[in-house]
Amino acid sequence: MRTQVAIIGGGPAGLLLSQLLHLEGIDNVVLERRSRAYVEGRIRAGVLEPGTVELLTRAGVAERMRREALYHDGIHLAFDGRSTRIDFKALTGTGVTVYGQTSITEDLNEARTAAIGKLVFEAEDVALHDFNGPHPSVTYRRDGVTHELACDFIAGCDGSHGVSRASVPERAIRIFEREVPFGWLGVLSETPPVADELIYAHHERGFALCSMRSKTRSRYYVQCPLTDSLEAWPDARFWDELKRRIPKEDGARLITGPSVEKSIAPLRSFVAEPMQFERLFLAGDAAHIVPPTGAKGLNLACADAGALAAAFAAHYRGDDSGLDTYSERCLKRVWRAVRFSWWYTALTHRFDDDPFGARLQQAEFEMIATSRAAATTLAENYVGIFPGAA
Ligand code: FAD
Ligand code: DHB
Repeated sequence: MRTQVAIIGGGPAGLLLSQLLHLEGIDNVVLERRSRAYVEGRIRAGVLEPGTVELLTRAGVAERMRREALYHDGIHLAFDGRSTRIDFKALTGTGVTVYGQTSITEDLNEARTAAIGKLVFEAEDVALHDFNGPHPSVTYRRDGVTHELACDFIAGCDGSHGVSRASVPERAIRIFEREVPFGWLGVLSETPPVADELIYAHHERGFALCSMRSKTRSRYYVQCPLTDSLEAWPDARFWDELKRRIPKEDGARLITGPSVEKSIAPLRSFVAEPMQFERLFLAGDAAHIVPPTGAKGLNLACADAGALAAAFAAHYRGDDSGLDTYSERCLKRVWRAVRFSWWYTALTHRFDDDPFGARLQQAEFEMIATSRAAATTLAENYVGIFPGAA
């Protein structure tokens, strides 16, 4: 088999890249390790920057999003029971779209499955070959049969534990990493959201986030120790803890119900540089991870896919400048998002044994609540306005 671009991983980065390349007339094949049902069942991010919505629209997969998504002009930031609204629309002229990653994946899969054979699920033992020369290829196993896919380029879109980045010699790659000493316990429930907009709450018991997927579906998170197991968090304990961490008036309105999904996610910051190794290009979580507080992970993955699709399209028209500068351009945006996600996590979470840090958090919250400049900085970063970055 032969294709122009072999894409490893069928998450948002891989699927969006595949769809954008398809629209440019560039042949590509996506190799995904898991089943379609598994990929579509993973509950992850929910907040889209305007730039991501624009990309999905350009990719021709925005029809359901236009019908079902919620549009938010701001968020509530609560600190030890006091709440302030950050009015994105007034501060930046734009807002964010609330639409689940699972729905985006479904929409993209729907578009891509029309191209029969171009989307291979349950591809086992994917291996990358010769990407430092002119004839790269990828091998994989499906139903016990080994296949070889010759290609011009390989796009590594296989997330943080994928095979693509792991195939690069250690000496060619530089890793920047910072651990976060706690996790997020997330719950999805078929209940109406507690508020019309998201609530990010700092509390001495730990961070809490009230988000949503629709007017009847809520997504809530609480900061928890990384050592906690799901068994330690029956629904009743989760709702009780959430209620204690958000402002009283919100807690009084909270409608609880059985969880339909519950998981604990570790938090970390991670960047691999560069994002290109000859004919292998990394995109999305394969190259970088941010703590979820700023809702940037999915948005960065989509931005990489957009930049890479445009660079491949230019290459096939005879212009390699996009591919040559891909890594440098993406890393500018990545580091802006890494900085914001780190800062926002540090502002809103509880850190053990750090009374000095707790006072700094309080001062910072006061500043955001009273200074338009400080609130604008938060708002610009949240909606994804990164001047000077690609
Ligand atoms: P992924 O979505 O990870 O897709 C990679 C794909 O590659 C997967 O489908 C995987 O099965 C496949 N793959 C892996 N290895 C191989 C292989 N060897 N061969 C073939 N295929 C392979 N972001 C937010 O903004 N907000 C959130 O609330 C949020 N919550 C998250 C919760 C969890 C548990 C996780 C893990 C991430 C969360 N994120 C969140 C981050 C966001 O979901 C990711 O940034 C986004 O999914 C990145 O998309 P991606 O396509 O780069 O990677
Ligand atoms: C969601 C997740 C986030 O990390 C975030 O900052 C906002 C919303 C969500 O899953 O809805």
